[in-house]
Amino acid sequence: MKVLIAGGAGYIGSHCVKIMSEQGYDVVTVDNLSTGHQGAVKGKLYVGDIRDEAFLDDLFKKEKIDAVIHFCAKSLVGESMEKPLEYFDNNVYGTLVLLKAMAKANVKKIVFSSSAAVYGEHKEMPITEEYSTNPTSTYGESKLMMEKMMKWAEIAHGFNYVSLRYFNVAGAYPDGSIGEDHRPETHLIPIILQAALGKRDYVKVYGTDYPTPDGTCIRDYIHVVDLIDAHIKALRYLLKGNKSEIFNLGSQDGYSVLEIIKVAREVTKIDIKQVNSERRPGDPAKLVASSEKIGRILCWKPKFGIKEIIRDAWLFHKTHPNGYEK
Ligand code: UFG
Repeated sequence: MKVLIAGGAGYIGSHCVKIMSEQGYDVVTVDNLSTGHQGAVKGKLYVGDIRDEAFLDDLFKKEKIDAVIHFCAKSLVGESMEKPLEYFDNNVYGTLVLLKAMAKANVKKIVFSSSAAVYGEHKEMPITEEYSTNPTSTYGESKLMMEKMMKWAEIAHGFNYVSLRYFNVAGAYPDGSIGEDHRPETHLIPIILQAALGKRDYVKVYGTDYPTPDGTCIRDYIHVVDLIDAHIKALRYLLKGNKSEIFNLGSQDGYSVLEIIKVAREVTKIDIKQVNSERRPGDPAKLVASSEKIGRILCWKPKFGIKEIIRDAWLFHKTHPNGYEK
């Protein structure tokens, strides 16, 4: 049983490579190292771009792949609004070439990363998979296009897929060996921990006038180890011959920005400084997943809560103050 992890040098992909290898899966990674880190990958890595069809064809000839887990994507909402064509090229065209290469190699099972960003703005929480999709960013649109491509590839070529719509992924492998290292960092939890380490003077709280109990945005945070557990369950589900599905991947618990800072102060025992700031354009007030469907069909439920998420992220940050940089 050999699994190709596309984007396996990135934050989430590297956790997948490590956890699946430890569980005895034979995994092979492909990554162009544009945002990923070679040091994060344990095991066999092909350095190359999934938009390079000849490179992928060659890889599928060399390795007898049974299924693919696809993490390759640019994933910054703000950047996607400034560089929409780069996002379509990387995320949509990259997926297209990958699917073509898979079809040629007769590999028809794929689990891939989608996003809560496909939903756009909704008032009623938690968000179920039945909610309408109306992305408000190029990033969200690119993920929705990837899902649609899968749907039509299934009809024409017999693909089976599971699309996992991530909410806010955070945390790190509990031994602190791998974790989140984005350049630049835009995500709340690593930014808070950089402030705790003194690498930033303070955390900016983007908006304190949202219609939420404390005025700051509410998000649904999920531990990266729980997230990978869902990918492995999704893969097993497909390998058993089940039909294609789309699942939300969140915990169904929402935390505000201020609540996250408070937990981070408790975990780190450091009085992390915060500064109130303007709203960040495009941030919805509240995003919380319904995880009923994934619980029912894949028997998945998160094992880690917000304290463990921040505890494990903190261990990575403390032991890697410069990320993967030597
Ligand atoms: N925030 C701050 N200060 C910061 C950084 C973030 O207050 O320095 C706030 C944001 O405004 C937001 C919350 O913290 O309210 C979480 O922000 P993140 O940037 O950590 O995460 P997002 O919710 O913006 O993004 C996540 C994923 C994206 C995905 C998006 C879907 O990381 O990949 O959800 O809406 F597209």
